[in-house]
Formats: sequence, C-alpha cells, structure tokens
Amino acid sequence: MQSFLDIHTTDAADLRQMIDGARAMKDARAGQPKGAPDAEQPLANRMVALIFEKPSTRTRISFDVGIRQMGGQTMVLSGADMQLGHGETIADTARVLSRYVDLIMIRTFEEQTLLEMAEYADVPVINGLTNRTHPCQIMADVMTYEEHRGPIAGKKVVWSGDGNNVFASFAHAAGQFGFDLTFTGPETLDPEKVWLDHAAEKGHPITIDRNPERAFAGADLVVTDTWVSMHDPQSARERRHNQLRAYQVNERLMAHAKPDALFMHCLPAHRDDEATSEVMDGPHSVIFDEAENRLHAQKAIVRWCLGV
Ligand code: CP
Ligand code: NVA
Repeated sequence: MQSFLDIHTTDAADLRQMIDGARAMKDARAGQPKGAPDAEQPLANRMVALIFEKPSTRTRISFDVGIRQMGGQTMVLSGADMQLGHGETIADTARVLSRYVDLIMIRTFEEQTLLEMAEYADVPVINGLTNRTHPCQIMADVMTYEEHRGPIAGKKVVWSGDGNNVFASFAHAAGQFGFDLTFTGPETLDPEKVWLDHAAEKGHPITIDRNPERAFAGADLVVTDTWVSMHDPQSARERRHNQLRAYQVNERLMAHAKPDALFMHCLPAHRDDEATSEVMDGPHSVIFDEAENRLHAQKAIVRWCLGV
C-alpha cells in the first residue's frame, strides 16, 4: 500500500512499470464499450473516494470510469459539500475516510492538504492536482508520447508558457524518465527553482531559454497549458496574457520543431490563447489521445497504490 503523491517521490522503476502496465491494460480492452468490465477485476470489493476542491472534467471522469472498469466502486465528493469545507481538520477527515474507503484521490489547492491527507490516512492517497503539481497528467503524457514515438528517454521536450503545476510534474518526469526539458516563457512566470534542481540532480538539467524560436528548435514534443490556472487570481489575467503572448504555440513556432514533433496540452484549453486551433487540431496534435490516456495511466497508478 503506497500513496502516489508526486513523480519525483516515486521510484523510477515503479513509474516505468506503471506506464507499461497502463499500455497493456489499454491494449487488452481495445474495441470494448467503455462500460465493459476489464477481463481482470483487481478492484473487486474496493471502494474509492474521489474528492474535488476544484473543478474537473478529465480527472473526475477518468478515475471514476477506470475504477469501475476494474471492478471497484467510487464516490465523487466535492470538498465544499464535506465537513472539510466547513472547518473539520484534514487529519480527522483522513482518519474517518480510512474507515470507509480503500483509497482516496484528492484534487485540492494547497499541497499541504494533500500531504496531511496522506500522513493521517491509513489508505493510499493519490494527488489529483494541487497548486504545485499534477503527476497523474504527466504519467498520461509520457504514455502518450511513447505510444506514438517510442521511448521518451533522450528526447527534447519544450514547454512554452507558464512555469506552473503541470510544468513542475514535467520537470520531475525529466529526471525520472531521462528526457531533456526546455522551458521557454517570461522570467516573471519561471518555474520554482526547486523543481529544476530535481532534474539537475538526476543528470537532466532543465534549459531555460527566453527566445521561443530558439527553444523550439529540434523539439520532439511541444507542450503548453492554460495561461491562468485555477488557483491564479483572475485579476492577473490581462497581465499574464501580455507577458505570454510571444509564447503562444502556433504554426510559426511549431515550424522550428522537428517535422514529426508532437503537440500536447493537458486541457482544458483556451483556444487561440496559449495554442491556436490550427495547432490543436493539426497534424502534430495528440491532445485527445493524451486525454484518453489519463484513464489508462490512472488505472495503473491505482493498482500500484493498492498492490493489486
Ligand atoms: N487535465 C485535467 O486535469 O483536466 P481536468 O481539470 O478536466 O480534470
Ligand atoms: N494548470 C492548470 C491545469 C488544469 C488541469 C490548473 O491548475 O488550473
């Protein structure tokens, strides 16, 4: 029994096993209706709580569907509807939930909430996004890259835009999966230095290049995300748009990447802000495979957490 809190705090061999397991599970149910049970039912008799303190489409539905395919049961809870949103401590909530469910997935604001949940729960806890990281997303992204282009190790991945929570998990993945990561964006929206340190310690230092044309040169994979995240104040919107405009992923910038480069975005996107529709719907884009792979990657994460 183990929690999945972040990519850099999970053993690299275990991460690899999860990606390969996800691929095998995806292949095994190819062509089946979405509601069909998997041939194996490793989650039979297991109950999972999915807690959301922020909105979600993909994380919510992919966890729910994936757990049901594996024979488990789910309950989707909004933090605001629980006593958690009305002053009950995270520690008490974690101890109570552990008496009812076998696994907790939480999407929250402060990383501290996730860490406290994991500390006090007697069952595994999965990080479904915090203000600082989004590890489930990047597991799906690595799976998606490899499904289209083979091993990601040694490839050039370019992140264009805000150095946010999704970038942070990419930085962790660079160290764990051994790819070269370049960040291109304005200095004011640089990633936290601590995220860069992890990759450097693992022998994959992250390059920061303010010039997007230079940064995109030779990229195997280009990634971006919304310019204003759920935890960012809406008042920052206009300033961020002005700072990030030069980093919009469009055909002009994509022309600097390798001809067979892939484009990813975790979604939801603000079309024609961080990326043009031309790129999102164009030949480089794998954004809907990426969204689908949340389902398969998370099934592997859940199995790893429960050891089933
Ligand atoms: N990418 C992602 O986590 O999407 P949702 O916010 O819809 O869950
Ligand atoms: N960076 C975005 C990701 C959404 C899935 C956010 O935190 O809002």
